[in-house]
Amino acid sequence: MKRTREEHAARFDEKAADYDDTETDEYRTCVSLVVDHADPARDDVVLDLGCGTGAIALRLADAAARVVGRDISDGMLAEARRKAAERGVENVAFGPGTFREPAVEASVDVVVSNFAMHHLSDAEKRDAIAVIAELEPRRFVLGDVMFFGDPDPAEPFYSPEVDDPATVGVLADALTAAGFSLVAVERVHEQVGVLVAERRA
Ligand SMILES: C[S@@+](CC[C@H](N)C(=O)[O-])C[C@H]1O[C@@H](n2cnc3c(N)ncnc32)[C@H](O)[C@@H]1O
Repeated sequence: MKRTREEHAARFDEKAADYDDTETDEYRTCVSLVVDHADPARDDVVLDLGCGTGAIALRLADAAARVVGRDISDGMLAEARRKAAERGVENVAFGPGTFREPAVEASVDVVVSNFAMHHLSDAEKRDAIAVIAELEPRRFVLGDVMFFGDPDPAEPFYSPEVDDPATVGVLADALTAAGFSLVAVERVHEQVGVLVAERRA
């Protein structure tokens, strides 16, 4: 992790009000792919880690029984709650939680995360993926900054001073080690992708 959790939280608190105005095409593609691959059933509980202002959680709410969003930034969570209230979405609950301590009590069927896990170091990502596996979801969909080739700070999506993305290989190994099978890899950009993992029986 290039910054502490508190520094990341403060950074996103500052961005929260304008965050939704800064979407790129690749980000939008990732959001669509994560939502499509999550594909929850009517009675599923979905957990969105690093939920931010609720881009994924609010899109999935209609399809699932309940969506739980967790984030470290009070500012981003406040925006997510504001949007849920404005849209009359009642089956989402946004609250504090981290990748490694997601603060969920009930069982979870599908876990999603978009553009958030790259703030963790590779060792922390491995721990986070192991924690997600312990929740025993049948599917985990990860959209994020990730390297399909050599890291290139001159290309979009990778700012080495704040970001710590992994290679696709590191993520695939971590998922496999935690008991998931990688069932789809979507390359959105040389430095952005979506991985779909299902828990092995
Ligand atoms: C770029 S935003 C993405 C938000 C949302 N998932 C989306 O697709 O728009 C990254 C989010 O990850 C959160 N975050 C960073 N580190 C985190 C951690 N360790 N645990 C939980 N959330 C974290 C930040 O507070 C921020 O809201």
